[in-house]
Amino acid sequence: MLWFKCDEILPGVSLALLYVALCLSGIFIYMENEVIEDVENSCKIPLSAEENIENFRRKNYSAFVVGYSGEVGRHLLEALNRAKVFNRVVLIGRRTINLDHIGPEFEQNVVDFNLLEDYANLFKGLEYGFCTLGTSHGSIQSAEFVRVDHDYVLKTAEIAKANGCKHFSVVSSNGADRNSNFFYRRAKGLMEETLKVMHFQRLSIFRPGVLLCDRAEHRPGDTIFQKILRPVAYFFPTAVTLPVETAAVAMLNNAITPTNRTLDVFENKAIHVVAGMAQQFCPPQEPKISEEKTANKKEPESDL
Ligand SMILES: NC(=O)c1ccc[n+]([C@@H]2O[C@H](COP(=O)([O-])OP(=O)(O)OC[C@H]3O[C@@H](n4cnc5c(N)ncnc54)[C@H](OP(=O)(O)O)[C@@H]3O)[C@@H](O)[C@H]2O)c1
Repeated sequence: MLWFKCDEILPGVSLALLYVALCLSGIFIYMENEVIEDVENSCKIPLSAEENIENFRRKNYSAFVVGYSGEVGRHLLEALNRAKVFNRVVLIGRRTINLDHIGPEFEQNVVDFNLLEDYANLFKGLEYGFCTLGTSHGSIQSAEFVRVDHDYVLKTAEIAKANGCKHFSVVSSNGADRNSNFFYRRAKGLMEETLKVMHFQRLSIFRPGVLLCDRAEHRPGDTIFQKILRPVAYFFPTAVTLPVETAAVAMLNNAITPTNRTLDVFENKAIHVVAGMAQQFCPPQEPKISEEKTANKKEPESDL
């Protein structure tokens, strides 16, 4: 009897599943092939970063990283340690982490984010700021989320700017929009809008999709979600996901690229490109015109 019923139901269920799979594949194919806004700028960054790295090192700039104990933050730390582009990197967080393998230019500071003004001197003279603060924890209460992802980020930016930060890079989220009906996206959007009116010499906003990582912290929901998304990331690497290593390299490449732009907003796919990991989306390179011909046409680009 049961077997008879299964026989009746199974073809219907299989068809429904096939239909869902086809719809999802269609959506992912569309997202994978979506056009990147301002693609030339994103494409030029990995090359410019490589060309400018020695020049940048000679400037002896200093930086801070807030949120360095998180997934993007830890990978940014590794990328900065490998690149050695800053002569001093001040790490600011609510707890210490093991820095045994990290160079002497890194210094770790524990602060109370509710009293961040009291630690303003830590930010003094640091030209570059990287903020990877956030609470993507599923169980987090909305008030806590606003406190960290909005209030703490803006307080960090405000104090950093007052103490000499020229280029502020921040991790936001895809879909960030101050008018969104979704609470998470609205809070991120409001955070972005406030940063824009702070008028940093340079502001770079990174909007990742779903971050892929082996999370140090145990988050069962996150682990299951990532397991489901790994095959999607395999076939459609830039559509919805972003490995944290890629996010870190993109932030570094962007910082060391000379530019006269004051604001950049990088969506998920563009972050892959900025990291130099998805150059298939870039237009073919035009042959270089001789320097003499272009000499009077463009303002020279600078780090800061
Ligand atoms: N996960 C995703 O799929 C996803 C997608 C889009 C955007 N994002 C955004 O990407 C950014 C980085 O994500 P992530 O996964 O790297 O974050 P994460 O691993 O959760 O790390 C976040 C950082 O913020 C710090 N932090 C959290 N709550 C804090 C508090 N109450 N006081 C002080 N510091 C606090 C953490 O410190 P501790 O190490 O001490 O906890 C850590 O350094 C976040 O802004 C997140 O919203 C994430």
